[in-house]
Amino acid sequence: MRVALTYNLKKKDPLKPADYFSECDSEETINSVVTALKTKGHSVDAIDVEYPALFSYFRKNRVDMVFNIAEGKHGRFRESEVPAVLDYLNIPYTGSDTFSLALALNKTLTKKILKAENIPTPNFQLFVKGDEILDPDLKFPLIVKPNCEGSAKGINKTNVVNNPEDLFCKIKECIDVYRQEALVEEFIEGKELTVGILENGKTRVLPILEIDFSNCKKSGEYFYSWKMKEFQGNSELGLVPEFYCPARLDKEIEEKVKDVALRTHRAVGCLDISRTDIRLDKFNVPYVLEINPLPGLDPKESNFPIMAYAAGMKYEDLIEAILLSASERTKA
Ligand SMILES: Nc1ncnc2c1ncn2[C@@H]1O[C@H](COP(=O)(O)OP(=O)(O)OP(=O)(O)O)[C@@H](O)[C@H]1O
Ligand SMILES: [Mg+2]
Repeated sequence: MRVALTYNLKKKDPLKPADYFSECDSEETINSVVTALKTKGHSVDAIDVEYPALFSYFRKNRVDMVFNIAEGKHGRFRESEVPAVLDYLNIPYTGSDTFSLALALNKTLTKKILKAENIPTPNFQLFVKGDEILDPDLKFPLIVKPNCEGSAKGINKTNVVNNPEDLFCKIKECIDVYRQEALVEEFIEGKELTVGILENGKTRVLPILEIDFSNCKKSGEYFYSWKMKEFQGNSELGLVPEFYCPARLDKEIEEKVKDVALRTHRAVGCLDISRTDIRLDKFNVPYVLEINPLPGLDPKESNFPIMAYAAGMKYEDLIEAILLSASERTKA
């Protein structure tokens, strides 16, 4: 197949906030996807979708499929930018469509759909202005998150709050810094799990990944905060969580967690690939935090490839599975 890989490159710019490029992809990831596609016999052009490269490339070139990992530039529809252009040009692409990408990026709207589908998700309230009255049913500790971010941007340990004063301070900070609504959720103590779905002929739920932060205590970080994600593996900072794949769960709970992830994938309308983040509380209720239709694909660092390896796949098999799933769809 002739394939174009569309991406936004992670850059270093001291004038931008430290987390500005966190969602974008590194050269290692881009090179790894290109190599994997070539290994499987495809020809590949890698396109950084910075304006005007996307338009000029597709004006001159025809491809069979776009392998899309572009996170987009800005705003609440950013992950849909490239798919929207490709839809307009009638060019097929891997992964979720314009609508599902925009939906999944909006945590509150996604949670409303999960509630309607009876999928457990932490109780929540959305703060638009920051001076709304706190819902008395919400129980501390609460966590404050920007409503439309990924890569744990704007999520630090101080975002977990135990009283109204700290809560409203964090809400204000979140609205001011990230220029968007603040989502406030009950903080679920318990196991951190993430579940990969890969549609490869038939839909496949990969072995569940459990991330254990208990040996990161010295760092002060105790969940998948921005710092934990950004500096994961840094032993000097004490940010070396332990990964268990498959997760240490009883069979019955494992099935329950997988079922919830698959139902989330379907409820949001995801295609080919997704990763659902879950917290399992002390009563073994799997609370869905969010779904990622564009999960990171760094072969060493990202959670999704770890789950594919545990299923016996090599990195290039994973990339090929995503491509084939999308190309089957275009034939249908
Ligand atoms: N309600 C919650 N209860 C417990 N922990 C939470 C909750 N919400 C978020 N977290 C912690 O914060 C992390 C990041 O939150 P979340 O997955 O919502 O953000 P994100 O920016 O979309 O992440 P990603 O990097 O997966 O895109 C979670 O993996 C979890 O460790
Ligand atoms: Mg997450």
